[in-house]
Amino acid sequence: MSLDELYREVILDHYTHPRNRGVLEPADITRDGANPLCGDELRISLRVRGGIVEDIRFQGKGCSISQASASMMTEQVKGKPVEEVVRLIAAFKAMMHGEAPAADSLGDLEALQGVRKFPVRVKCATLSWVTLELALDELRPG
Ligand code: FES
Repeated sequence: MSLDELYREVILDHYTHPRNRGVLEPADITRDGANPLCGDELRISLRVRGGIVEDIRFQGKGCSISQASASMMTEQVKGKPVEEVVRLIAAFKAMMHGEAPAADSLGDLEALQGVRKFPVRVKCATLSWVTLELALDELRPG
């Protein structure tokens, strides 16, 4: 199997069997995001305890890339310290904008690299990440 095929399978798997889909009740933060290019919307809800993303869910409609990316994101950030999540968001966005990921740093998320060939789809892949970033901003004092 080629790397492209493997990546396609990872994306399809997350699209057809999304992880952490739904709304968290109760949640500390709920944030809505939208892709301005297509109008698709996504909601992120999360609970943060002691500086750790204890739990997270996503809900919304959108293309396979946006849904798979959100599913992968929730898997990656659950149980991680907020500071680490902030670094991961930056690393993912950098990868989607053309920077090579540091070795092994992004794991399955690298399956989304192929999307870079289609600039309009980059917003699909980053929708959940940008929404999570805005949600985490609400945790910062001031
Ligand atoms: Fe709307 Fe991808 S086409 S999020």
